[in-house]
Order: sequence, then structure tokens, then C-alpha cells
Amino acid sequence: MEPQTGNLKTAWQVSLGSYYISEEYGFLLPNPLRELPDHYRPWMEIARNLPHLIESHQLRAHVNKMPLLSCQFLKGYREQRLAHLVLSSITMGYVWQEGEAQPKEVLPRNLAIPFVEVSRNLGLPPILVHSDLVLANWMKRNPEGPMEISNLDTIILFPGGESLRGFILVTVLVENAAVPGIKALAQAMHAVLQPSQDALLEALQQLKLCIQDMTRTLGRMHDYVDPDIFYAVIRIFLSGWKDNPAMPTGLIYEGISKEPLKYSGGSAAQSSVLHAFDEFLGIHHSEESADFLYRMRDYMPPSHKAFIEEIHSAPSLRDFILSSGHGHCLTAYNQCLEALAELRSYHITVVTRYLVTAAARARSRRLDHLPGPPQALEDRGTGGTAVLSFLKNVRDKTLEATLHPSG
Ligand code: HEM
Repeated sequence: MEPQTGNLKTAWQVSLGSYYISEEYGFLLPNPLRELPDHYRPWMEIARNLPHLIESHQLRAHVNKMPLLSCQFLKGYREQRLAHLVLSSITMGYVWQEGEAQPKEVLPRNLAIPFVEVSRNLGLPPILVHSDLVLANWMKRNPEGPMEISNLDTIILFPGGESLRGFILVTVLVENAAVPGIKALAQAMHAVLQPSQDALLEALQQLKLCIQDMTRTLGRMHDYVDPDIFYAVIRIFLSGWKDNPAMPTGLIYEGISKEPLKYSGGSAAQSSVLHAFDEFLGIHHSEESADFLYRMRDYMPPSHKAFIEEIHSAPSLRDFILSSGHGHCLTAYNQCLEALAELRSYHITVVTRYLVTAAARARSRRLDHLPGPPQALEDRGTGGTAVLSFLKNVRDKTLEATLHPSG
């Protein structure tokens, strides 16, 4: 392959900021807002009280009394992101307050209309997404302090107490651990365009270390999240109304559409990090997996999706490494794939513990005639896929991209 010429160099400027990606926090929204203008107090009062309102079965009654508020007093992007987090969280609570056996299949207009309006403004679907629950749902207790769990808190919660807080904040920390990798990726793409093999090697080595750090950080889930609470309490509030037997027809958004609409639940499959790494490394997933993963891109902030698409259309890293014959870059590239496959293998053990094993325990408990957890969602991800075979397939395709020296 010919090295890229100057034209492309200037045409492809990897400016993270122009994709709303922060140099400091990556895809996390930097210092998310915690308060909306006073006009929206009815929303905030309910959102702040969600765990109690859901557990005491009062949320639906409170929502039904909520005034219909227009989104026109929301100023700017950050207020809109908080409004989306707030309205999506209220929606999940409203639908699932009585568990999977009695979902509410109609969202009242005083919630549906502003929720769809703010969703359209942001280019997000009207359901709780990863960019709500995680990316816009964190704060530092001490603003000068470090990104450590002891210095972090959430803004909005569901039932699930400390386990839910841990689930959200460990995921925040995984996103934060990805930041050096996102920067390395941008540097590597510059290095391909320049071209500079030394700069590429350094960036690939940095990317590998970052992925390993993400794996270590994911491991902290075990310290903070109780599998039985995740399975029986938390999971349902992340569940959507697409491919979900508990809500086969979807949800009617009153005042928006007479037909029910179907949306997948919140999942870190909607995180932009691994999508970006996969595109950069040129990993091809099988058709079925790719269909699901591509669909998840519609659940990301549009600027993050655009970043992933930009990486996709950039000159191929793999072609560059093969044609340059630079053995160290090839080794470093393969090590990135190994680290990513290890991250995915580790994630599979997490999913096994939090979904598969927890489901088995819940089943045996049901035999003891104890109150059961959600049933229709069993063995399914919160995004509604046949979980383990999908995850293993995605992991195996990661390793299939391994490069072998040519000639
Ligand atoms: C208790 C913790 C977790 C559980 C139970 C869990 C569960 C799942 C499930 C069921 C899927 C399949 C897709 C779906 O149904 O939505 C999935 C996919 C995925 N999860 Fe997680 N997850 C957890 C934590 C995380 C964290 C912290 C991250 C990283 C930010 C993450 C990243 C991903 C990614 C990237 C995918 C897409 C598949 C891939 O690219 O390998 N997960 N997860």
C-alpha cells in the first residue's frame, strides 16, 4: 500500500473535541450537571426519589400527576443530557414498577411528549441508554479529587442500593480507563497518515496497556456488585421493549404515536469504546453479531457514532502494517487483539456470574417457593440477545483478525 499523501493528512484531522470526546474523560460527559432549571422541579423531585417511589409502588401515581412541561427552557447540551437521564430513568421506573409480570404498556403524554422531544434534540432514542445511566450519571464528591470510586457518586438511581451505585461507577471507571486508549488510537491514525512507524508502534503499545487496564478495572465489579441483587432487582430497570417477551408489542408513547414503539434496553454494548477499537483494529464480526452491534450505535450520542464511522472510513491500519513490513508494529497490533480478546473473555466471566449463575440460583430459590426474580428476561441480556454465544462469537472474531507476517 502506498503511504497516504498530504491531502488525506489534512482531510482526516482526528480532533477528539469535534466529536464531543473529552481529552480528560473520553466518552464520559465531563462534570455532568446535577440540577435542571427550577421550571423542571416536578421532574427532578420524582427522579431524585425514584428508589423509594418505585419500592413503595407510588411512582406511577406521581407521574400521572406530573404537569406536561415543554423542553424549551432547557438551555444547551448539558441540560438536555440531564433531562434525558431524568426522563429515561422515570420512564424505566414507570414501565417496570410492578416487575416484568405487569409492565405499563402506555407511557402517559406528560412524560412521553417531553421525553421524545428531548430525545429528538439529542439524536437519542426515547429509552434509558448507556450514555444516560453511565456517561451522564456521575459526579466527583470532591471536584479536585481523583477518579476513584471513593470520590465518585451517581446522580440518579433505581432500586438496588449500593450494588447499583457500584455497577454504574465501576462502568464509569472502565470508560475512564479507556481514555489513554482513545488518545492512542487518534495518535496511531495520525501515525499511519504521516507515515511514522515509530509513532505507530508507541501508540499500539499504549493501546494494549490501556485495554489491560480496562480489564483490571472491570474486575472491580466483583467488589461492589452483588450478583443476586443485580439479577433480581437491578436488571429489570435496564430492560427495554424490543425482543422482550415481557413486552412483545413495545411501548405506546401517548401523544407521539398510536402504534407501540420498540427499543432495546440499556447496555454497555452501547459504549463507543469497543466499537472504536474494533473499527480501528479492523475486526470483522459475524453478520448476526454485527447487526446487533451496529444497531447499538443508534443508541449512542450521534457525535460518538460519527467518530466510529470516521475511523471506519480512514485508511486501513492492517494494510499499512502488512505493507510496511514493520515486524514490531505487527507484533504490537497482535498484542492489542490479544488484550481485547482477554477483556472480552473476562467480560464473559462477569456475565456468567451476574446473569447465568445468578439465574440458576434464582430458579432453585423459586423451587423453595420464595418470591422470584424476573422470568421472561432469564438467560437474555438486558439488550435481549442470546448472551453467551453472542459474546463468545464477538471474542473469537477478535482473535481471528490476527496478522501473520507476509512472505
Ligand atoms: C455486571 C456487569 C455486566 C453485565 C452483567 C454485562 C452484561 C452484558 C450483556 C448481557 C451483553 C450482551 C449484549 C446485550 O444483551 O446488551 C453485554 C455486552 C457488552 N458489554 Fe457488558 N455487562 C457488564 C458490564 C460491562 C462493562 C463494565 C462494560 C464496559 C464498559 C461492558 C461492555 C460490554 C460490551 C462492549 C458489550 C458488547 C459486546 C462486545 O463488544 O464484546 N459490559 N454485556
